[in-house]
Amino acid sequence: MSIEIEGLTKHYGSTRAIDGIDLAFGDAVKVLALIGPSGGGKSTLLRLLGGLETSDSGSVRIDGAAVPRDEEGQRAWRRRNGFLFQSFNLFPHLTALENIVLPLVEAHGWTRDAARARAREVVERFGMGDHLAKRPAELSGGQQQRIALARAMAHGPALLLLDEPTSALDPERKAEVLDLVEELCRAGQRTVLSTHEMGFARGSADAVVFLSAGKVVESGTAEEVFGAPKSETVKAFLGKVMRW
Ligand SMILES: Nc1ncnc2c1ncn2[C@@H]1O[C@H](COP(=O)(O)OP(=O)(O)O)[C@@H](O)[C@H]1O
Ligand SMILES: [Mg+2]
Repeated sequence: MSIEIEGLTKHYGSTRAIDGIDLAFGDAVKVLALIGPSGGGKSTLLRLLGGLETSDSGSVRIDGAAVPRDEEGQRAWRRRNGFLFQSFNLFPHLTALENIVLPLVEAHGWTRDAARARAREVVERFGMGDHLAKRPAELSGGQQQRIALARAMAHGPALLLLDEPTSALDPERKAEVLDLVEELCRAGQRTVLSTHEMGFARGSADAVVFLSAGKVVESGTAEEVFGAPKSETVKAFLGKVMRW
């Protein structure tokens, strides 16, 4: 996936959530990790990449195509992608299976039969075959997040955008979800994720961007950013979060 970001800004009132970002990654980058302190702009950048938000200025191109700025274009852009957020945003009144089937039918125009077959396939692949008929409240947090991940990728997204997908989970459940994300990435799913799981970012991302106060402090390969951070900001951050 090529990603080209030029002069990107997004302000909320006086907050510069994204404050003039330039980045360029070529096709070799399949998995991109956004790291850095809370409030640094990770979620905002993911939302801009996914067409959930309109920038104030600048441009984002993915595989040569500009992320649309108009509402209709953004709706179509969003459908191409898959999203997973920190907290489980499953429909509470629907079964696990229906949570996956419904968007395939409603947003992507699949027939119900095709959608059900696909939903079963991904749920089996994610080790959740015994839980198809359960509602979210009957599932653990990790199981809910696995269903949410299945939903995000069932339609074969051009880009999978994951915003701290494991930060609400306990360690064991974290590992279960990260294993699946890694499996998807290894299978070639192009992914941009924000994460505080430094081991995962270092081990699985082709490129890492450190964001702080809406700016790119460092970017490079995982080995460059983790193995030989250049800036004091990144060194201090990693020193703190990798200490324990
Ligand atoms: N919808 C919003 N309205 C107002 N401020 C926001 C909104 N979204 C994000 N911000 C602010 O933008 C900054 C960047 O936030 P965010 O992108 O969520 O950072 P991160 O994901 O790295 O924690 C923060 O100061 C945050 O408070
Ligand atoms: Mg965030």
